Amino acid sequence: MQKFSRLEFQLLRACPDLPQYVTGAGGDGFTANYVCNANWKIMIDNALECYHCQTAHREFSDMVRLEDHKVTLYKNFTYFNLPIAMKSENKAYPIDLDHDVLTAEFWWIFQNILLGRFPGVQNFYVSRFDPLEVDKTSRVTVPLKPREATDAGAAERERLRSIWTANVVSAEDQALCENVQRGMRTAFSHGWYVTDPNDHAISEHAMRYFHDLYRSRMDIEPLAAI
Ligand SMILES: [Fe+2]
Repeated sequence: MQKFSRLEFQLLRACPDLPQYVTGAGGDGFTANYVCNANWKIMIDNALECYHCQTAHREFSDMVRLEDHKVTLYKNFTYFNLPIAMKSENKAYPIDLDHDVLTAEFWWIFQNILLGRFPGVQNFYVSRFDPLEVDKTSRVTVPLKPREATDAGAAERERLRSIWTANVVSAEDQALCENVQRGMRTAFSHGWYVTDPNDHAISEHAMRYFHDLYRSRMDIEPLAAI
């Protein structure tokens, strides 16, 4: 019997045919390749909490059920589960409720890797955040997809999602991270973490976990317990 780690188990549970997936060609799938004028840790922070979603990602928030967002911490990785609102027409892009991914699932692996399935046409992606300078980070994404399209409309839905990913959600996150970076040049105080065990739509516990891991690896004094 083959033995899987917890992460492998979760990946295959989310996407059983992942081993048969092929890489998407340029122009399809996700186009989240960009350079952001922010420190890499700001970009990871942004990926680890959805507190900003309701205000910064209004179209995304219309597509999903933020109130059902769950974020679970594991050794050196975190798992995000976010079901969609089951609206084929929503403010982000059309979804085929018979063929598409209906639950967003993401994994962050310490330090700079993000894996996941985005709502919509069947997909899986791997993103990497590489520091270029103290205030400059490159994000490169490899999109994966099934060898065969699930239905005749999949290509058009994928095209619409790609446009939205590049022009809306990635642009929103990039602007947000660059704003935080600009703020750090003027004044920075650590502030409080928002952690709520019952409301993961606003909770920053995964971000706090990242900071704890980072501090321990960098031999920096741990933050006070919460
Ligand atoms: Fe975001």
